[in-house]
Amino acid sequence: FPLVRASYVDELVNTAKTIASPGRGILAIDESNATCGKRLASIGLDNTEVNRQAYRQLLLTTPGLGECISGVIMFEETLYQSTTDGKKFVECLRDENIVPGIKVDKGLSPLPGSNNESWCQGLDGLASRSAEYYKHGARFAKWRTVVSVPCGPSALAVKEAAWGLARYAAVSQENGLVPIVEPEILLDGDHPIERTLEVAQRVWAEVFYYLAENNIVLEGILLKPSMVTPGAEHKEKASPEIIAKHTLQMLKRRVPPAVPGIMFLSGGQSEVEATLNLNAMNQSPNPWHVSFSYARALQNSVLKAWQGRPENIEAAQKSLLVRAKANSLAQLGRYSA
Ligand code: 13P
Repeated sequence: FPLVRASYVDELVNTAKTIASPGRGILAIDESNATCGKRLASIGLDNTEVNRQAYRQLLLTTPGLGECISGVIMFEETLYQSTTDGKKFVECLRDENIVPGIKVDKGLSPLPGSNNESWCQGLDGLASRSAEYYKHGARFAKWRTVVSVPCGPSALAVKEAAWGLARYAAVSQENGLVPIVEPEILLDGDHPIERTLEVAQRVWAEVFYYLAENNIVLEGILLKPSMVTPGAEHKEKASPEIIAKHTLQMLKRRVPPAVPGIMFLSGGQSEVEATLNLNAMNQSPNPWHVSFSYARALQNSVLKAWQGRPENIEAAQKSLLVRAKANSLAQLGRYSA
């Protein structure tokens, strides 16, 4: 039986390479409507489709965005939206040589039989949805599941997270979408960095085991790991050098060099922290493209600058470019604060 679906393999490899191109990374704006509502509420705006469209239009029409951004992850609503002048957002991205991506998971649900942990929904109907997203221009996908250090993690939760990611990756590749594999290890907890390293190693070992069992083409995936840091409530903060050392140790022990790109999430780090940590990881050569796929660490100052006012759009777009440029330099290991 065919181990690899031949039809899309070359395209998947090319898409992954384009996203993992030097000095570029991913802008994640795939907040669900509920989460986008929280972002809008932080600047006093109602969570309406009009406001979500206006915010995404501001981000996606930023002139020159493609110099530092190679991919944008969208929520389903955004994939089908257009600018107020009637240009599809997907077209805006293509004009900047940015690959359109789509969040395909359906969020988290309590995992019965576990220690208050959760599992990720969305495999039902995923093949037909993925084919539809491809038709509308998406070329990569994201599936975010979470693992909690303070809740264990239980063997059951880790296995479920890894298996779900591998099944999603197989369905994505079958439909021409490069899967971003994202088992987010939440920052919550007061544990030391060594404990995060231990958990991350366990999780990624299992993820790669099931990716192999599901015949995933590793050259056609991207990873979205959490950086290895102490728990957010741990008594001591770690320097970018310590975080880089532990994170790279984990990656080198667990991630084959066939994987083209490692696109970190920011996970609640401040904008500058996320940039400094990425820069520290790029101080010596890595077998992969080590870059960013930030949501909050690229959007926080944009929201502040915008405040929902049309007269602030230009300033807000400039602040997006400032963060994107800083992370682009960090990808190249050339950022200084
Ligand atoms: P943060 O960078 O805000 O953690 O979000 C990235 C993301 O897409 C999480 O799934």
